[in-house]
Amino acid sequence: MFDSYLKLDNFRFLKWAVALCVACIALYVLHDPIDAPNGGTWLGYTLGGLTGGICIWLAWLGVRKRQFHAASQVRVWLSAHVYLGLSLLVIGSLHSGFQFAWNVHTLTYVLMVLVVVSGVYGIVAYARYPAKITRNRRGMDSEGLLREVLDIDSDLLKLADNIGGQTQEVVSRSVQHTRIGGTWRDQVLGRYDDTAGDALSQVLDDSTDASDYDSQTSKPNDTMMFMASSVLKLDDPKRGEQLRRLTSLLARKQDLVLRLNRDVTHRARMRVWLFFHIPLTVALLAALLVHVIAVFFYW
Ligand code: HEM
Ligand code: HEM
Repeated sequence: MFDSYLKLDNFRFLKWAVALCVACIALYVLHDPIDAPNGGTWLGYTLGGLTGGICIWLAWLGVRKRQFHAASQVRVWLSAHVYLGLSLLVIGSLHSGFQFAWNVHTLTYVLMVLVVVSGVYGIVAYARYPAKITRNRRGMDSEGLLREVLDIDSDLLKLADNIGGQTQEVVSRSVQHTRIGGTWRDQVLGRYDDTAGDALSQVLDDSTDASDYDSQTSKPNDTMMFMASSVLKLDDPKRGEQLRRLTSLLARKQDLVLRLNRDVTHRARMRVWLFFHIPLTVALLAALLVHVIAVFFYW
């Protein structure tokens, strides 16, 4: 997708956008107004009209997008959207004559820059995250991962029931507190509790000599190696087998939950910019209206 819309028709819209910027820069350089260049000259109005028109056209994508039926239509619009959107940085700056101050005109400009910046994050995110998502899922979809976690949970509860005691308590608490996703901040920042990992360490502490093992610093693989060697030392082979199975299920669940939460984070980071891009677009259109009314009012 990334390649196909940015490189569309041998960079057709990039060429158009560059040609438009070069033409505007040439007019700006050749233009010789009485005062310093500003939005109120004939060129200023022309560039202002162009900037405002492009903004409205770009915002129209939100409406048009929902009416498209073919993916090829989306690609053409998106390609034009990206390159014309970037050209606003040049055309909008020339329009203002670089006259910035603490007023609604500069606010309109700042909002425009913020929409463009959030759009740039968007294309980077769309280029980066799909491959990460595929790699992390390792051939499974998120429903498949979730289903396996639920299956493991029910196996864990049955097994912990048979073992009883502290282990049963630890495992059922861990199953109850398993959390996939969270608030939008947790999702974007990737902050999650590792309940399966905690349970693994506790089961380990309860069934072995905890003084031999530092659960805070050990990695899951070290944990598994240590556990395996400890379990082999148990006198009761049936209990040893149950614990071996329990730890291997906990380790598998730890891996699956980690991947599921990472999947949530990848998808959140891929979409989060739209929560800026769209509201900032609305704010930009409102500020643009106020800007145009203000300049005509004081004219
Ligand atoms: C997103 C689009 C636009 C942005 C970001 C923008 C931004 C700006 C900025 C930063 C200035 C300089 C303000 C100053 O001199 O203190 C300016 C001036 C001006 N703009 Fe725009 N503008 C946009 C669209 C328009 C449109 C559509 C029109 C009208 C057709 C327009 C008309 C003017 C005029 C007449 C001035 C000169 C005001 C003066 O010198 O006091 N602008 N604009
Ligand atoms: C002032 C300039 C811009 C405005 C007003 C604007 C506005 C919009 C709007 C309204 C949408 C539709 C969102 C939706 O309804 O889902 C959109 C989508 C998008 N914009 Fe912009 N945009 C601007 C500039 C840019 C720039 C410069 C880029 C990239 C460099 C960009 C990248 C995107 C992308 C990739 C989408 C597609 C999102 C999707 O389909 O999931 N935009 N933009």
